[in-house]
Amino acid sequence: MVSGEAQVSLSEVVRRYDGPPVVQALGPISLDIKCGEFFSIVGPSGCGKSTLLDVVAGLVRPTSGSVCFEGKELHGEVPDGIGVVFQEDSSMPWLSVRDNVAFGLRTSSLPKQEVATRVDHAISFMGLAQFAGHYPAQLSGGMRQRVCIARTLVLRPRLILLDEPFGALDQQTRLLMGDELLRLWRETGATVLLITHALDEAAMLSDRVGVMSARPGRFIDMVETGWPRDRDSRVISESQFGALTARLWSSLREESLKTLGRAA
Ligand SMILES: Nc1ncnc2c1ncn2[C@@H]1O[C@H](COP(=O)(O)OP(=O)(O)OP(=O)(O)O)[C@@H](O)[C@H]1O
Ligand SMILES: [Mg+2]
Repeated sequence: MVSGEAQVSLSEVVRRYDGPPVVQALGPISLDIKCGEFFSIVGPSGCGKSTLLDVVAGLVRPTSGSVCFEGKELHGEVPDGIGVVFQEDSSMPWLSVRDNVAFGLRTSSLPKQEVATRVDHAISFMGLAQFAGHYPAQLSGGMRQRVCIARTLVLRPRLILLDEPFGALDQQTRLLMGDELLRLWRETGATVLLITHALDEAAMLSDRVGVMSARPGRFIDMVETGWPRDRDSRVISESQFGALTARLWSSLREESLKTLGRAA
């Protein structure tokens, strides 16, 4: 697919959970994400961000509206070409780093040698080569998140969905993991959809940031950052960075107050 075309297309997507109580979690949302784009979503807690990610992944069907990936409508399962990194650390504690990373290919029809090559590549790409035989409990939180990303990378996704992957990490580690994610994005050519609660992370990493309203989540602002493709965390010292972060916050402040039950 040519860079610049819509890879993901959402049309009037609504998602309701049939309780009781019935909860309208999302929408209506219409959104196109371009092939090769780095798109981030910020929004108040509980506004439907994870629900949106699940809908884009094909894990959850919209109550109404449609979701297309590479021109095909999704029907309740994750299609080939989409890789997901979930909000919580989903490494499997009983498996070594190598076996965690190989897990998604265990039923694949690829030759054994190809599986081993992909696993080795993903492990070293994420800087874990010396820890391939370690277990998750022997790693730091940042390293465990890298295992989860490596596990997705072996599948060679054309679209990578990440739900607050660095949420539990300290600020410096988050910035460095952001650099890793930018490197991964550039080198794989994949499209990235990142959900984050950190406005600075969204402003630094993305080509475009969508700001969501309080639940039911809709887009209330769309911000183009204008960064060059070859960027890293040092953009935080650029003057536009402060302006971008301030705009995200001014769009989000009123919505965040609503979720706390307060007027703006
Ligand atoms: N399986 C479910 N059944 C019923 N309601 C649900 C379910 N999953 C989510 N919800 C509701 O949908 C709304 C959106 O939840 P979601 O997890 O998508 O929010 P979020 O924006 O990801 O929040 P956070 O920032 O805290 O991760 C919430 O009100 C939540 O209670
Ligand atoms: Mg969430």
